[in-house]
Amino acid sequence: MIVVSGSASNHLGFLVAKELSCKQLTTEVRMFPDGERYIRFAERIDGEDVVVIQSLYKNPDSLITEYGFMVRTLLEFGARRILGVFPYLAYLRQDQRFKDGEVVSSKVVSWMIERFDTSEVFVVDPHLHRLAGLKELFNIPAHNISAMPNLAHYAKEVLNATNPIIVAPDEEASQWAYKVASELNAEFKVAEKKRMGDNDVIIHLGDISPAGKDILLVDDMVSTGGTLATISKDLKLLGARRIIALVTHGLFAEGSYERLQDAGVDYIVTSDSVPNPYALVTVAPLIADAIRQEL
Ligand code: R5P
Repeated sequence: MIVVSGSASNHLGFLVAKELSCKQLTTEVRMFPDGERYIRFAERIDGEDVVVIQSLYKNPDSLITEYGFMVRTLLEFGARRILGVFPYLAYLRQDQRFKDGEVVSSKVVSWMIERFDTSEVFVVDPHLHRLAGLKELFNIPAHNISAMPNLAHYAKEVLNATNPIIVAPDEEASQWAYKVASELNAEFKVAEKKRMGDNDVIIHLGDISPAGKDILLVDDMVSTGGTLATISKDLKLLGARRIIALVTHGLFAEGSYERLQDAGVDYIVTSDSVPNPYALVTVAPLIADAIRQEL
């Protein structure tokens, strides 16, 4: 087996290759001045299974193209099977037609991945909300890997979160918060969120009593930081001791770090599905385990 990293997942690819004790193929990727992409594999492959690892952030359209260029060429060069690893799979929030005429992007992206001739996919904490599982998106074997147990351990072992309340900022996040709560055997609450715009949400805490408690705020992703900042302000006003945000995908749109700090978030911990300064927990061993189990 051999690992090929897309340009969005170079370091994670290196870690996965190390975990699997296999080679990471030397790849040259660069952009021409007009925005076209040049890719060259500097070494040969020989009838192997190839793990292609590519997060779809920050320019998902361009990165999925790069993934396709790589996969088609690796197959042409004799790859036996392509195992596509998407530490962050973009477009999953557009999983239905909310308004007439909209593109259901998640369906098109999964179709593209299949059409490139990917044999199996592995996705870290996919944003599945209205869909029951990856099987509703893919017709090839699709595996869901969660960073949540590892993020929970980090909060417990490194940040010494004591007797915390695990809070999901909305119903969508409850699936991930539940995993953290189960791992830590802790109290679990779900707040209610209403999105008013891309940057603007309203959150009702309901029966959460945070006074004097460590709060582990759990979500699959942080983008503008609006969701976590809004709920953190309210939790701090009600006397929360420490707020620790545990998030799989740290997308961090411009201004989001400051927004979270201003809202009183004490710690932000994300996985390394998307490189960022708070990526303190690696998903490499989880990805390697999932691949090993399949083979
Ligand atoms: C919601 O659908 C997601 O689970 C996140 O809560 C949301 O995408 C976070 O976005 P933002 O940081 O912009 O509030």
